[in-house]
Amino acid sequence: MALSNRKFAAVSHCIDICAVKELAPGQRRIVDIGDYDEVLVLNLDGVYYAINNVCPHAGAALERGTVVDGVLFCPLHQWGFCLSNGRAIDDDALYAQIYRVISQDQRLYLVRSSD
Ligand code: FES
Repeated sequence: MALSNRKFAAVSHCIDICAVKELAPGQRRIVDIGDYDEVLVLNLDGVYYAINNVCPHAGAALERGTVVDGVLFCPLHQWGFCLSNGRAIDDDALYAQIYRVISQDQRLYLVRSSD
């Protein structure tokens, strides 16, 4: 998602991820967002997804999970989380936190706010 410079400036909590070319399709990367939080950013066929790296079930790191049809499966107990909305596929009440990823000037940014 590219934003105009005006809209980009209005997004208050963007965290630089990397250059667009550094996250090719099929690649993933961990981004430290402070306060001991990490976000897993994935490029799936040119679409970027970002999800908190801590599984909301029992705290496993999701970075080594497997992705099937837009669902990230935790490596510990194999619960699946939709990368579009964070919802657990087997528990409607359980969500992993997701984030927006935007591109601007050939760089990728993680948006922490709901702007
Ligand atoms: S810790 Fe992720 S499914 Fe249990």
